[in-house]
Amino acid sequence: MIHTNYLIIGSGIAGLTFAIKIADLFPDKKVTIITKASADESNTKYAQGGIAIVTNETEDSYQKHIEDTLICGDGLCNIDAVKMVVTEGPERLKELIAWGAKFDTNSKGTFDLGKEGGHSQNRVVHHKDQTGFEIERAILEQVYQKENITVLDHHFTLDLITENNRCLGAYALNQKINKIVTFQSEYTLLATGGIGHLYGHTTNPVIATGDGIAMASRINAVIKDMEFIQFHPTALYEDTAGSAFLISEAVRGFGAYLRTKNGYRFMLDYDQREELASRDVVSQSIDMELKKSGDKCVYLDCTHLDIEAFTKHFPMIYERCKSIGIDIAKDWIPVVPAQHYLCGGIVVDKHGKTSIENLFACGECSQTGLHGANRLASNSLLEALVYSDKIYNYLSKASLKNQDAINLISNWIVLDKPEVNLNFINTKKAALQLLMRQNAGIVRNNIDLLNAKEQLLQWQNELDHLSKTHQINIALWELQNMIIVGYLIAQDSIRRNDNRGGFMKV
Ligand code: FAD
Ligand code: SIN
Repeated sequence: MIHTNYLIIGSGIAGLTFAIKIADLFPDKKVTIITKASADESNTKYAQGGIAIVTNETEDSYQKHIEDTLICGDGLCNIDAVKMVVTEGPERLKELIAWGAKFDTNSKGTFDLGKEGGHSQNRVVHHKDQTGFEIERAILEQVYQKENITVLDHHFTLDLITENNRCLGAYALNQKINKIVTFQSEYTLLATGGIGHLYGHTTNPVIATGDGIAMASRINAVIKDMEFIQFHPTALYEDTAGSAFLISEAVRGFGAYLRTKNGYRFMLDYDQREELASRDVVSQSIDMELKKSGDKCVYLDCTHLDIEAFTKHFPMIYERCKSIGIDIAKDWIPVVPAQHYLCGGIVVDKHGKTSIENLFACGECSQTGLHGANRLASNSLLEALVYSDKIYNYLSKASLKNQDAINLISNWIVLDKPEVNLNFINTKKAALQLLMRQNAGIVRNNIDLLNAKEQLLQWQNELDHLSKTHQINIALWELQNMIIVGYLIAQDSIRRNDNRGGFMKV
């Protein structure tokens, strides 16, 4: 059994920024980060557009950012959360910079601010089109410098340990030696990110399987707003399965047009903000166009833009397109919506506390009320920064609890059982992804959702039996987690009777 004062599950922006702060404040306390792949693998690493922060108060204001967030959230945001996140952004940006993250500036020496859908102003601070990579690099470097932080990569968290609605730690599989480790902690933070691979066609990397939400659901934590799945309008269209490469919304902020294959700028018909309408509107519009035409994709036209400036701002996108034979100076980029983000999740209060004592949640796995029915572009990194600081502030004043927990925890009992058949798991996973795309996609209906719910329940029972009778296997565990999350999405979608933001039911 490993004892730690602070157990952090996940090494994206939410987990790492909390770790840095709490480790600095309490150099004599142990901070342990467990993460299921290599330490830098996360949704954070792939963030492109940047962080929405009011840095230019001559043209922009907190009020405008608050209003844009509220409009995007379509009446379901928590106004206090919105105000708090928006106004605390500049301080959190200063910290990121102090930790070594670099952001692009212009000839005047001020931030080069990008624009994205739903924003009334240019306010997105970025590092070219690789903002997430730069942030993850900088904060991970900080983490490695702290003597009281231990990073355990390739440790897959299986379940949280609780007693009387109190979290005492977690069990994780050390994949390097195939051994289950018991962690006992005073405080535990879930920072496990998104759910993209539930849909298969997603901008998320393969680690995004909703594990944290499934674990929280198994201990009856309050979870909310799971129907609000955000589909990004412009994932690169390639006729392949798995993660899709993102063409940042900042490209439309830079002036790119969306066209049908015949060249028609269809967004003019849908919204007066045209290509820069909020993400829900653009994805739903593309979906309608594709259903009308029967085409597989629409196109992003950058040919009228200053290509030299484009390549400076978006070098990764330029190179990726080039690598598949698309010269953006001459060719349109084929794009299609893909699952991108989960607006709902584990409900937390303004301190990041979940409904389970001593358990906190932060980042994409949490539901703070900031996003409502649809997240405003580039508000996710911001949310993680502000809430990890809130949790840090709260815990900086709290005395350590759970020291008695050690007596209540038993180690995981490993029995000799057969190995699970991986072909079976892979086939089931593909079936789940197809079910989610077909029955819980951009436009849903109750018949499909009810069918999905029934199918998911049947799979849940089938896999429960399989996992009880076979050795622990990560692919099986992830699949079970995804099925639980899928069930929550179907259930919340059935319950909602009004179309809001990213949720559309016909
Ligand atoms: P993540 O960064 O996803 O980290 C989750 C961590 O948890 C990972 O380390 C993972 O390995 C670990 N983990 C998961 N399950 C387990 C388990 N069972 N056991 C142990 N560890 C586990 N947002 C913006 O604001 N601006 C942008 O420009 C932007 N661009 C984006 C572009 C792309 C392509 C994508 C995919 C997302 C983008 N987002 C953007 C969204 C944003 O990046 C994420 O919402 C945010 O980074 C989530 O941070 P996080 O720390 O909550 O989770
Ligand atoms: C993008 O760059 O388009 C992604 C921004 C986001 O998800 O907030």
